Parts: sequence; C-alpha cells; structure tokens
Amino acid sequence: MLFTQYELGDLLLSNRLVMAPMTRSRAYVDGIPSSLTALYYAQRASAGLIVTEGVQPSAAGQGYVNTPGLHTDEQVAGWREVTDAVHLAGGRIFAQLMHVGRVGHPDNTGSTPVAPSAVRASGQIHTHAGPQDYPVPVALTTAEAEATVRDFADAARRAVDAGFDGVELHGANGYLIHQFLSQNANLRDDRYGGSVEGRIRFAVEAAEAAVDAIGASRVAIRLSPGNGAQDLVEEDRSEVYPALVRALAGLDLAYLHLMATRDDDLDRRIRDLWPNTLIVNDAGAGDPDATASRWLGWGADLVAFGSAFLANPDLPLRLRLGAPLNDPDFATAFGGDHRGYTDYPALAVHPV
Ligand SMILES: Cc1cc2nc3c(=O)[nH]c(=O)nc-3n(C[C@H](O)[C@H](O)[C@H](O)COP(=O)(O)O)c2cc1C
Repeated sequence: MLFTQYELGDLLLSNRLVMAPMTRSRAYVDGIPSSLTALYYAQRASAGLIVTEGVQPSAAGQGYVNTPGLHTDEQVAGWREVTDAVHLAGGRIFAQLMHVGRVGHPDNTGSTPVAPSAVRASGQIHTHAGPQDYPVPVALTTAEAEATVRDFADAARRAVDAGFDGVELHGANGYLIHQFLSQNANLRDDRYGGSVEGRIRFAVEAAEAAVDAIGASRVAIRLSPGNGAQDLVEEDRSEVYPALVRALAGLDLAYLHLMATRDDDLDRRIRDLWPNTLIVNDAGAGDPDATASRWLGWGADLVAFGSAFLANPDLPLRLRLGAPLNDPDFATAFGGDHRGYTDYPALAVHPV
C-alpha cells in the first residue's frame, strides 16, 4: 500500500510517503533559497509529496536565522528554481507557511517578535550572538491579527506564482497559529481569544483566507495537538482540536497533517472528524517501514517522515528494497553548506 499511487485532489502522488517539513537554515540573508536548495529537494523528489521547510509569509513571521520567505518577488523567483527542479524530477511540492510568532529574536530579524499576547516563551533561541532568552513579544492588535491572516493569503498566492502545488499552514510545534490555540500564550479578550471558539478563530481564518486566495485543493494545515512545543500549554486539547478540525472540515482542504499525539482517543476522534486526506507524522517512531504500515493500517492516507528523508534522498527506493538507511547527522541540520544537506548518498544501483 505504501507504494501505491494516491490522488491528492488533482495531483497524482507516486506513493504514500511524504517528506515532512524541515527547517535547514541555509537561505541567503534576504530569505531567498540558496542555490543548493533546488538540488536538495530535487534529490528527494521520489517522495509522493515534499513539504518544504517552514517559510515565513512575512518579514515579521521570521524567527530563526537564514530561513527562506515568500513575501518578495526575489524569493518567488528563487523558489521557482526549486519547484521547477522538483517537478522535472517527477515530484510534488507544497510550501509550509510558518509564522513563528513569539519564537523569535530581534537580533535575528531586527524587530521584536509579535504574538497573540505579550507572554514570553521560556527557553532560549539561537541568534548570531549565540543562545539568548526569548524576548517578551508584542501582542498583535485585532487589526494586526487580521492583517497577519491576510499575510498568509498573500504568501499562498506567491507560492502558486512560484510554482508550488500548494501550501501547508504551520499550525503545529508552538509557532504563531499554535500559540493562538493554546491556553498560556493566548490571553486575549477580543474575538481571537477567550473561548475555544475564539482561540481557534485565527487558524480557521488563516485557512479560509488562503482558500479564497488559491483554492481549497491547494491549502493544507499541520497540527500537533497538545505537544507542548515552545512552552505551550493545552490542557483542553480534547475540546480545542475536535472543534478546530470540525471547523476546518467545512473548508474541503487538500489535507490535514497530524503529528500523532500518543493520545489514541484524540487521534481517532480527529481521523473520524476529518473527511479529507490525513497525513500522519509519528515523531521519533523509529523504523519507517513498520511505522508506515502501522499508520496506513490505522487509517492514515499518507505517512510523513522527517529525519529519514533528511538523510536518505532515495528513501522510497530504500524502503521498497529493504535497504539500509543512512543515519542523519544533526550537527549539520541547521545552517552550513552542502555537507549534511546535498551530500547524503543515494543507493548505488549497478546494472546486472
Ligand atoms: C532538522 C529539522 C527541522 C525541522 N523543521 C520543521 C519545520 O520547519 N516545520 C515543521 O512543521 N516541523 C519541522 N520539523 C519536525 C519534522 O517535520 C518532524 O515532525 C519531526 O522530525 C519528527 O518526524 P521524524 O521522526 O520522522 O523525523 C523539523 C525536524 C527536523 C529534524
């Protein structure tokens, strides 16, 4: 089943394997993907679908150093080389739109991060001057929150201009959309906060705006219910996520990319509430072959892998053959040059 084709809207995927989004921090300082990025993704085009690293939809959405954007014409031109290379190699590629919210630092971006509320995350961020505490972010006004929703739509339009097959809104791992969903980073008393309905509103409006901009079949979202990343608390996840998934289900999105929660009841409820394609990524689950079989058997339509794709450009072939996998080197995960980026070897296939 892993190697059967899959119809994702009008896109035919060659298999059920998805390359999970992975920040690699190798873009030029102006957020243009580096010249190696097209090669990196093209090497991995045998994935049924590639989801790119997080891409900031606006300058304010950047938090880390050397991450790429989709808010200038030059960035669009840079991504065009990437999407052309992937398509030429037979692949499909969605851009992950990632606004970091409070997970940023002025030393990286020149401005104080913005967030649902002025609540700093505990912990530190890598900056040009070394690790530093997260700053207290500036709370978005209601009008600024609405403008940020529009930034997602503008970036979605630019993604299509750049040749992407669609966009995945990053609603997971403690970044802006997830901050709005949480209990401790969202202390707002306007329509984007308070009740469950208020806290899911930003996510739903961002998805709606992107759908209006480029059509539902090109818009997707990633969620990681209750995973606590970046100091978020979601004790009411069993209420928030079913409400959110119900609201999103009405939009007919391309897919929901669920990071498995380890709460079997919640995962099952989400599957039952979601009528469209469901991608599951089971972080750190180990052996990709067994993990894929387990989740496809459970009811996922597609299964995503991060580090296995980072280290194995030809992961689908390796799994098909039962061949050994390269191990990822996390020392070269973020930043640097081609080492640990485009130099992981593919299998040498000898003619017989
Ligand atoms: C180097 C690296 C960068 C990552 N960057 C992102 C990111 O930009 N967006 C995102 O949603 N997840 C990101 N993740 C999480 C992965 O998408 C994935 O959920 C995680 O690696 C667990 O899956 P795995 O066990 O198959 O690696 C990153 C993971 C790694 C290893």
